[in-house]
Amino acid sequence: MRDLTRQEKSRRSFLQYLAASPVLGMSAHEALAATGSELQQRAADPYIWKPYDPSYLVEKPEDALDVFELEAVAQKNSPLAHWGWMSTGADGEGTYRANREDISKFAIRSRRLRDVKSADPSREIFGIKYSVPIFLSPIGSHTQWNPDGEIATGRASAKNNVAQALSTMATNSTTEVNKVRNGKPVMFQLYQQANWEVTKAIVARAERDGCPAVLVTVDGVSARKDMQWERSRRADTRLCATCHEVRAGNPKEPVGNVRLKKPQFSEVPAAIWDQKFTPDALTWEFLKRLRDFTKMDIFVKGIMDVEDALMCVKLGYGVYVSNHGGRNEDTAGSTIASLADIAPAVKGRVPIFIDGGFRRGMDVVKAVAMGATMVGVGRPYIWGLAAFGEAGVDRVMQILKAETLAAMQQVGAATLSDLNPKMIHKAL
Ligand SMILES: Cc1cc2nc3c(=O)[nH]c(=O)nc-3n(C[C@H](O)[C@H](O)[C@H](O)COP(=O)(O)O)c2cc1C
Repeated sequence: MRDLTRQEKSRRSFLQYLAASPVLGMSAHEALAATGSELQQRAADPYIWKPYDPSYLVEKPEDALDVFELEAVAQKNSPLAHWGWMSTGADGEGTYRANREDISKFAIRSRRLRDVKSADPSREIFGIKYSVPIFLSPIGSHTQWNPDGEIATGRASAKNNVAQALSTMATNSTTEVNKVRNGKPVMFQLYQQANWEVTKAIVARAERDGCPAVLVTVDGVSARKDMQWERSRRADTRLCATCHEVRAGNPKEPVGNVRLKKPQFSEVPAAIWDQKFTPDALTWEFLKRLRDFTKMDIFVKGIMDVEDALMCVKLGYGVYVSNHGGRNEDTAGSTIASLADIAPAVKGRVPIFIDGGFRRGMDVVKAVAMGATMVGVGRPYIWGLAAFGEAGVDRVMQILKAETLAAMQQVGAATLSDLNPKMIHKAL
C-alpha cells in the first residue's frame, strides 16, 4: 500500500477524531457545522474541490506552497469577527465568487520554442521599476490582523520590490509607511470625505509624503450587507467595545471613528472638523475638483463598465477595474470579464489596474495579456499577515513573484510586452 501524504494523514486523523467524538455518524461537513461556525465549511477556493480541512496547517511561512496554505493559518489565528470581516462578500457572494471563477474562463495559449531563460517580469510605472506587475490592493486597518499593521506589509512588500496601495482607513499613515518602503512610496487610496476640506488635508499629506498616485474609490455608494461578517460578529463572544467605539444601543456593532483613530487624519486641524459644510456628492465633478487640487496621478477605483472607462480616458484618469473584492454589490459581474471589454476600448491610452480574485502567478499573467498594467492582490497578503506577520506577507510576495516568473516562461514570454490578447481565448 502506498504511503499517505502529509495532507492525507492529517485529514485521516481529523476524520478519526470525528469518529471518536460525540458527533459520530455525521459527515465531516455536518460535524464541522456542529463544531464551529459555517465559515469553517467553506472550501478555501472554488478551484479546490475538496472539503476544507482545518487540521492541515503549515507551521512556518516557508512551508507554504501557495497563498491558500496561509489562508488556513490566518483563519486559525484571527478573531472570528475579524475573519468574517476580511473574508465576507456582499449578500449571496455571487460577485466575490465570480471574480475567482471567471479567471478560469479565460485560458492562455502557450507559445513554445522561445528563449525564456532570462525572462523578466518587471514593470515600470510612475518612473519606479517594480519586480512584478503586482501591487498590494488597499485594505483598511491592518493592525486588526497583526499589531505591526501596515508597517509590516510595507516592509515585506518593499523587501520584494512590490508596489503597495495604502487605504484611507489604514492604521499607519503615508508618513510612517513611506519610511519603510525603500524610497518607493505607496499609492494613496482615497475615500472621499463628507467635508472637502478634510479630503484636501489627507490628500495633501499623501502628496507631501511622496505618494505618486491617488486611487479614488467610487464603488461604495450604498449601505451593504456583509453576510459572513454579520454572522461571525454575532457568534464572536468577545466585547467589541474593548477595542472599538461601538454604536449606541448595539455593543456588537463597531463604528470607525476616523477622526480619533485613523492616522492619516491626525494632522487635520480641529477648526476644519468643526466647520459647517455641505457634504460632497461622489461624481465626475468631484474628480475634476481633485484634479485641480493635486499633482498626483489619479486612478478611479471601482470601474466595471466600458463607458465609465472611456470617461476616464477622456479626462486623463487611470482606470482601476475593481468591484471591491465582491464586497459592495452582488450582481455577479467579475472584474476579469470587465477587463476583457474595457482593455480593447481603452487601447493603451491610460494605464489599467485590476483586482479581484487574483491568487496565482498565472492569473496575473492572464490579466496582463488581456491589457492590465498592474494587478492588485487583496485578501492573500492579509492571510500572510494574519498567519505569520511580516514574514507571512514576505512569503506571499515570494510565492506570487516565483509563480509569475514561472507562468511567463511557461507561456513563452520573455518580457511583459510579449504577453498580448491574441494568446487569450475563452475556455470551453
Ligand atoms: C478586509 C478588506 C478591506 C478593504 N478595505 C478597502 C479600503 O479601505 N479601500 C478600498 O478602496 N478597498 C478596500 N478593499 C478592497 C480591496 O482594495 C480590493 O479591491 C479587493 O480586496 C480585491 O479583491 P481580492 O481580495 O479578491 O484580491 C478591502 C477589501 C477587504 C477584503
